[in-house]
Amino acid sequence: MKRIITFGTFDVFHVGHINIIERAKKLGDYLIVGVSSDELNFSKKQRYPIYNQTDRLKIISSMKCVDEVFIEESLELKLEYIKKYKADILVMGDDWTGRFDWVKTDCEVIYLPRAPSVSTTEIIEIVKSI
Ligand code: CTP
Repeated sequence: MKRIITFGTFDVFHVGHINIIERAKKLGDYLIVGVSSDELNFSKKQRYPIYNQTDRLKIISSMKCVDEVFIEESLELKLEYIKKYKADILVMGDDWTGRFDWVKTDCEVIYLPRAPSVSTTEIIEIVKSI
């Protein structure tokens, strides 16, 4: 029984988000998703998400391959979350390659390639320009 954990903001939900969540689940049996809080997203990207954390959590938890969700309050708490949810594997998109190698003491870390040519930032830019 392998427990997988992954994290993200998942704002303006798109197919790249579905792909990484589905691929993460295939690496094990039970999938836990940490959804970044509105404040954490502001500190990472200098803007608040379009969808608030309650709605983003609801969208992610509605996926049939997702077993458990929670709000991620801080990037520095990765190891605490991994221990709390007893995760065997941390999965992140390869835009984060190397950034979470420091948790390898406690769990396996796998960076999956991002789905090409789709991102929340790009969608927002396209919508703004219309
Ligand atoms: N992701 C992916 N493929 C994409 C976009 C995102 O695999 N085309 C993954 C990221 O690597 C991350 C997760 O989805 O593991 C959540 O990413 P998030 O930052 O919320 O989405 P982005 O679309 O990358 O948002 P932004 O453009 O604001 O950075």
